[in-house]
Amino acid sequence: MAETLLIPQTTDRAALYESLVPQIAALVEGETDLTANLANIAAALREAFGFFWVGFYLKKENQLVLGPFQGPIACTRIAFDKGVCGAAYTRRETLLVPDVEQFPGHIACSSASKSEVVVPIFDRAGEVAMVLDVDSDRLNDFSEVDVQGLEAVGRIVTTHLV
Ligand code: SME
Repeated sequence: MAETLLIPQTTDRAALYESLVPQIAALVEGETDLTANLANIAAALREAFGFFWVGFYLKKENQLVLGPFQGPIACTRIAFDKGVCGAAYTRRETLLVPDVEQFPGHIACSSASKSEVVVPIFDRAGEVAMVLDVDSDRLNDFSEVDVQGLEAVGRIVTTHLV
């Protein structure tokens, strides 16, 4: 695995994803432990983008359970019919929420969270195995650039799921 991240000195997120996505692929290359890989991915995304909260919720039986993350402590369990995470899981699609207050059923883990993107991550059988949740403390902080970049990260995770 790569030892350190090379992060371009720019705030241009397209450039950051372009640099970071291959580095994340290299970071998890050759490591088979899922927890270790998810932990490093969360850390890489936090380091490169400074996101307020970034992490994974894994499907366990009939709910989503908190996995590796970076940021403030968070809710540990989310029902499939709750929050942005539950909606992304159930709809099997990425959700970009510019203002979480406007999202029915949003779970306020932290009142500082203002906007978010949640990406479903599929296993090789096409079932949603987990979601990648990225939260910002600013309104309207995400765009299609984040959706594309974070979905690319999700596809890397998929290749590492048995
Ligand atoms: N915002 C999420 C809950 C998880 S935390 O914000 C870390 C949601 O509504 O699904």
